[in-house]
Amino acid sequence: MKLLVTGAAGFIGSSFVRLSIAQGHEVLVLDALTYAGNLANLDAIKDAPRYRFVKGDIRDGKLAEELLRSFKPDALVHFAAESHVDRSIMDASPFVSTNVGGTQVLLDAVRRAGTQTRFLQISTDEVYGSADDGKPFTEQHPLKPSSPYAASKTSADLFVLAYQHTFAMDALITRCSNNYGPYQFPEKLIPLFTTNLFEGRKVPVYGDGMQIRDWIHCDDHSRGVLSALDKGKSGQVYNLGGGNRLANIEITRLLLKLTGRGEEFIEHVKDRPGHDRAYLIDHSKATRELGWTPQVSFEQGLADTVAWYRDNRAWWEAVKSGAYRDYYAKQYGNR
Ligand code: NAD
Ligand code: TYD
Repeated sequence: MKLLVTGAAGFIGSSFVRLSIAQGHEVLVLDALTYAGNLANLDAIKDAPRYRFVKGDIRDGKLAEELLRSFKPDALVHFAAESHVDRSIMDASPFVSTNVGGTQVLLDAVRRAGTQTRFLQISTDEVYGSADDGKPFTEQHPLKPSSPYAASKTSADLFVLAYQHTFAMDALITRCSNNYGPYQFPEKLIPLFTTNLFEGRKVPVYGDGMQIRDWIHCDDHSRGVLSALDKGKSGQVYNLGGGNRLANIEITRLLLKLTGRGEEFIEHVKDRPGHDRAYLIDHSKATRELGWTPQVSFEQGLADTVAWYRDNRAWWEAVKSGAYRDYYAKQYGNR
C-alpha cells in the first residue's frame, strides 16, 4: 500500500512507519515537528527507498491536498495530534486547533483531492470517559470524555463519522488504550518515571495511584492499525487494547524493580484535576472482525522498554533538556 502518515515523528506513528516499511509498504510522512516530534524516531528507516518525510502542518489544507494529489495514497493514517492530558488541562487551544480543526482540514483535503484514499483516524479509549462501573468499553459505549484532550479526540472522531456518512467517504476509526514502548516522549507515565529513576530522581504519583489503565505495546497498536486498514469496514470503529490492566502504583513498583530503586523514590503528589479512575477496553470486535490480538506480553514488553531507555540515554537526555531541537538541526539540517 501507499500510505500517507501524519504525526509519524511522534511515538506511535514512528512505530507504525517502521513496521509498514518492514512489510513493504510505501510511506510518506507529514509532521509539523512540534515539541513531541523528533526525526530521530525515524532514524531506523530514514534511508529506505520507499520512505519520504515532509515537514508541514495538518492544518495546512493546501499542502495536504497537494500531497494527496501527487502521492495518491491508498490510505491516510492520521496519528498527528496534541496527545498529553496534562497539557490540555493547562491550555486546550492547541488541542482544539490541531485535533479537531486539523482532522476536519484533512478530511476536506481528501474530498477535494478526489483520490481513492481510505481515511483511518487514530483515536483513544479516553473518548469513553472513566469506567467507574467496572465494565469494559465496547464500541457502543456512550462517548463521555472527561479531559480537554479526550473531548478534542471525541470531536475529531465525530467529524470522521459525520464525513463518512454525509460524503460516503471511506473512513474508519481505531480507539486504542494506553501505549508504552521505545521513543515515547518522557512526559507520559512510563518514560517519565523510568528516566527519572535512572537519573536518581523521585517519581510523581498523582493522588493515591490507584487509577487503572490498560497497557499495550506500541508495536501491537501498529499491527492493529495495519489490520484495520486491510480488513476494517468503512464507518466502523475498532477498539484495540493490550488486556494488561494495572493500577499506576503497580506500574510504579515494577519500574522501581526494573531500575533497582526503592520505595523512597515514590512521591505522592496532588491529583490531576478530573482524573479518570479507570480505562477498561473490550477489543473483542477487533479480534473477531480483523483477526487481531496483541502479542507482546506486558512483563517482557516493559522489561524491554526499560532496557531501551537504559541503552538510549542520549535520546531522552536531549529530549528532556529541550536541547534536542538544536542537536537534531545540526545532525540533520533544518528539515
Ligand atoms: P506524540 O505526541 O508522541 O506525537 C504526535 C506527533 O504529531 C508529533 O510527531 C507531532 O510533531 C505531530 N503533530 C502534532 N501537531 C501537529 C500538526 N498540527 N501538524 C502536523 N503534525 C503534528 O503522540 P503519540 O503518543 O504517538 O499519539 C499518536 C496518536 O495516537 C494521537 O492521535 C493520540 O491521540 C493517539 N493515541 C495515543 C495513545 C497513547 O497512549 N500515547 C493511546 C491511544 C491513542
Ligand atoms: P499518562 O501517561 O499521562 O496517560 P493518560 O493520562 O493518557 O492515561 O498517564 C497515565 C496515568 O499515570 C494516568 O492515570 C495519570 C498518571 N500519571 C501520574 O500519576 N504521574 C505522572 O507524572 C503522569 C505523567 C501520569
